[in-house]
Amino acid sequence: MNITFEEIKEIEDRHLAPTYQKMPIAIRYGKGCKVWDVNGKEYIDFMTGYGVAILGHGHPRIVNAIKEQLENIVIAHSSLYNESRTLFLKKLISVTPKGLSSAYLSNSGAEAIEAALKAALKATKRKKIIAMGGAYHGKTLGALALTFAEKYRKAFDDIIYKGVDFVEYGNLEAVEKGKRLEEYAAIFVEPIQGEGGIRLPPEGYLKGLREVADKNGILLVVDEVQSGLGRTGKMWAHEHWDIVPDVMTIGKGIGGGIPMGVTVARPEIMNVFEVGEHTSTMGGNPLACAAGKAVLDALTEDNILQNVQNVGEHMLRILNEEVRGSRIVREVRGKGLMVAVELRVKFLEILFKAIELGLLTLYSGKTILRMLPPLIISREEAEKATSILRETLNWYEKSKI
Ligand SMILES: Cc1ncc(COP(=O)(O)O)c(C=O)c1O
Repeated sequence: MNITFEEIKEIEDRHLAPTYQKMPIAIRYGKGCKVWDVNGKEYIDFMTGYGVAILGHGHPRIVNAIKEQLENIVIAHSSLYNESRTLFLKKLISVTPKGLSSAYLSNSGAEAIEAALKAALKATKRKKIIAMGGAYHGKTLGALALTFAEKYRKAFDDIIYKGVDFVEYGNLEAVEKGKRLEEYAAIFVEPIQGEGGIRLPPEGYLKGLREVADKNGILLVVDEVQSGLGRTGKMWAHEHWDIVPDVMTIGKGIGGGIPMGVTVARPEIMNVFEVGEHTSTMGGNPLACAAGKAVLDALTEDNILQNVQNVGEHMLRILNEEVRGSRIVREVRGKGLMVAVELRVKFLEILFKAIELGLLTLYSGKTILRMLPPLIISREEAEKATSILRETLNWYEKSKI
């Protein structure tokens, strides 16, 4: 099965649609917070498949759950009842915000958003949506209508749903300004913007959105695809600001690496869908559900949220001590293990150098290094990653400026 990096690169570059910013390594194996490439080189994984591997790689709870489910059955369409789905739903609803007890199961974050969008439009019988500057909700056409960045939208501008008004994230006045709010079905918001560069909401902002929504019969849809599932030290990031959404979207780590998206809402919202009106062949498949239950069991039983709080705080502290002082660092910010180092220069060379030195991270925009480590990371691993980043920045300062 051994195939060299050069062969892998040649075939992927030739046959895979060229839509990804490729990095110069081919990953073969992962365990815990580390991954190894085809040449056996080791990396600390702060990319985690864009925030998917929340329990690291090869976590025994997930591996065992998937193995067991593989032996039973992999697919049972959601038109059939199934034990694995039932156990997942029971666990899921025990951790969702108060009253959000109805779930639509799909296969990705964007699909979770699509369901939220359709439910909100149908439940309110209104056509307009408020979304945020800098927002990222995915790239399917419905989700793209709620995603801010021009670079993703411009080729499709003519066919994108036109009912969405973007307002500045963090600015409450902008939400009400110049609008007939009774025309709006929903406000979509990421409690902490992920792709937008790890932007935290100002104090009182989410509460303010909740109040505007309540006053005007608008649904508050909170997108927890990136910030949810313990990433910030609480099960859902919006809990830090003490609000309850009407609809919430979940994705990334929920399926333990098996594709899964979840939309949860109050039953009267979800119940507007008629039979057959919104379905997915793979949504709610037993394999993803078994993995999803294992993920939620780990998050509720293994002291993981506490680890995120402890190591997250430690990491922000050491990043501020060791990295913040660099001439090319503008800011270090984050919550829990959702962390950004904003640079004064473009990220790409730095990202590639960090990879060469054994640290895999991701990015936002043009100048932000984004880190979404596994939630099980130890203080020592966080320290090692920070020291690699320090070394990377030193290299850049010495050789480039
Ligand atoms: C907040 C948020 N919503 C939605 C999505 C879309 O998820 P997916 O890429 O699984 O479609 C993402 C992906 O990064 C996200 O960060």
